Amino acid sequence: MRRRNPSDYFPPTGQQHSDWRTIRTLLPYLWPPDPQLRLRVVGAMLLLAAAKVVNVWIPVLYKHAVDALSVRDAAIVVPIGVVLAYGGARVMAQSFGELRDALFAKVGQRAIRRVALTVFRHLHRLALRFHLDRQTGGLSRSIERGTKGIEFLLNFMMFNILPTLLEITLVCGMLWRLYDVRFALVTFLTIVVYIGFTLGVTEWRIKFRRTMNETDQEASTKAIDSLLNYETVKYFGNEEHEAQRFDHALQRYESAAVVSKTTLSMLNIGQGVIISVGLTAVMLMAAYGVAGGKMKVGDFVLVNTYLIQLYLPLNFLGFVYREIKQSLIDMESMFVLLTQYQEIADRPGAPALTVRGGEVVFEDVRFGYGPDREILKGISFRVASGRTVAIVGPSGAGKSTLSRLLFRFYDVTTGRILIDGQDIREVTQSSLRAAIGIVPQDTVLFNDTVSYNIAYGRPSAAFDEVEQAARLARIHDFVCSLPQGYATRVGERGLKLSGGEKQRVAIARTILKEPRILLFDEATSALDTHTEREIQVSLREVSRNRTTLVIAHRLSTVVDADEILVLEQGRIVERGRHDTLLAADGIYAGMWRKQQETAHLRQELEQVLEEKETV
Ligand SMILES: Nc1ncnc2c1ncn2[C@@H]1O[C@H](COP(=O)(O)OP(=O)(O)OP(=O)(O)O)[C@@H](O)[C@H]1O
Ligand SMILES: [Mg+2]
Repeated sequence: MRRRNPSDYFPPTGQQHSDWRTIRTLLPYLWPPDPQLRLRVVGAMLLLAAAKVVNVWIPVLYKHAVDALSVRDAAIVVPIGVVLAYGGARVMAQSFGELRDALFAKVGQRAIRRVALTVFRHLHRLALRFHLDRQTGGLSRSIERGTKGIEFLLNFMMFNILPTLLEITLVCGMLWRLYDVRFALVTFLTIVVYIGFTLGVTEWRIKFRRTMNETDQEASTKAIDSLLNYETVKYFGNEEHEAQRFDHALQRYESAAVVSKTTLSMLNIGQGVIISVGLTAVMLMAAYGVAGGKMKVGDFVLVNTYLIQLYLPLNFLGFVYREIKQSLIDMESMFVLLTQYQEIADRPGAPALTVRGGEVVFEDVRFGYGPDREILKGISFRVASGRTVAIVGPSGAGKSTLSRLLFRFYDVTTGRILIDGQDIREVTQSSLRAAIGIVPQDTVLFNDTVSYNIAYGRPSAAFDEVEQAARLARIHDFVCSLPQGYATRVGERGLKLSGGEKQRVAIARTILKEPRILLFDEATSALDTHTEREIQVSLREVSRNRTTLVIAHRLSTVVDADEILVLEQGRIVERGRHDTLLAADGIYAGMWRKQQETAHLRQELEQVLEEKETV
């Protein structure tokens, strides 16, 4: 298959490489085209530098104050100016930092919004095949984690790592200038060892974090899937089985989390040791300097303050690095979605479909969902503009597959599908789909109100148009009988409505869409004969002058189609008008006779039930 999976893009051996790739993907979002936002980026950077320069100046003021206070012979003069400057500098350093955060907030949040939107759009562009293979819970968590990751990365990369690097440079420079190169060297060396140790151990720990992530995701998708199947679980009394499956995932998470926490403590201890050794060495050097008369007490204090001040965020750096690695992992799994191969894509420069009459032609169409099983084996038919063609046949024959191909959820393997003479692969998907209205076999509704779901067919429709469509779909009276009428919420996936009610909502929204080409896939299969007959009248009305494809089990609904195709195992085995097919006395005639018998029984049953209701 041509689809690629994440590991193709980000081989585990090239982790560094993939981190760069992730950061590179993010960078353009941080330098947005909006000049106002760019100004904010520049301002934030300047404030960042200013805050650090002031920060390095503070210990120097401190040193002067200590020196002024530690003269032995003369009377001590309170260094008011220096102390006040010290206070002022501290306020400045902090305010610069806060201002920088405030300025950058909008840039960061905008980046997050744009990334999330881009990924979301892309997910909708990916083919049905991708979505059928994926678990929705996992996808939405990927986005959620990925965007959180961006926020984290920005906050810490921009406002912790960069400033800390700047501070290290400044402090080492100051130490060198004020004393001698050894001070700068020892400090620098400590930091290098510290960073090396941190990165090394963290790299090693990453795999435990990964396992944690994976098992966490596994547990949550299991829980969601299980809860979505609430009814099925009950039908089979499998609560315990579900709980065990869930607990199995939790168990794996538990052990990964424990290893992760233990190794974290090891890392922290190591970091503490390195810093203490470096700090002690520099302080010893300063102590010797003071003892030898080369340095003042203030210098001893200055060196200590510098290092403590420097190590403080560095101590944090260990945590930050770990979190950044984590963020990169989370972002990676989000950005991988963006690299997913778009199976169904518009040809560059593809024109919009020009619909005239809406003639639909299938030309020797062959198709299989996978390479190993062909579902459609050479289908050819033509629905003249404004005409109705019905497709009947046993379950699994490939009827719904035809509708998925026409809607271009998948591309045909060989052959062509034409609308008004244009190959549907050569035109834009949006124009193609705008021209076709489908009432699918299984209707799923949005967890919103009835009117929202009907209006979904044409969101700009006025309310009375919605009502009109509902009337045509014979759902209006039912909706009005609900306590909350059109404002009734239909529940997750529309589960609070009966199958037949859902179908009628689906018909109403397709009627509202007013497409040139209509496709009803068992659109009335869940209705009783009486309602079905009523709807048939409406549907005939709606499909007059519209090209219509009807897929039906119940043959009584297709008797007046212009042509009936009998599909069996991916082949058209009979075709013609109802009367012709009956006269031919083939498969269709056999199906018809069988259904007539059951229809008769059914009608009687329904009549009895109706009478009972009226009594
Ligand atoms: N996404 C898919 N991946 C793989 N195989 C699929 C997929 N969707 C459908 N199939 C297979 O393709 C065949 C035709 O399916 P299709 O939905 O077109 O049948 P149908 O004629 O509409 O049947 P029914 O009357 O039961 O709705 C079936 O055997 C089904 O198992
Ligand atoms: Mg079907």
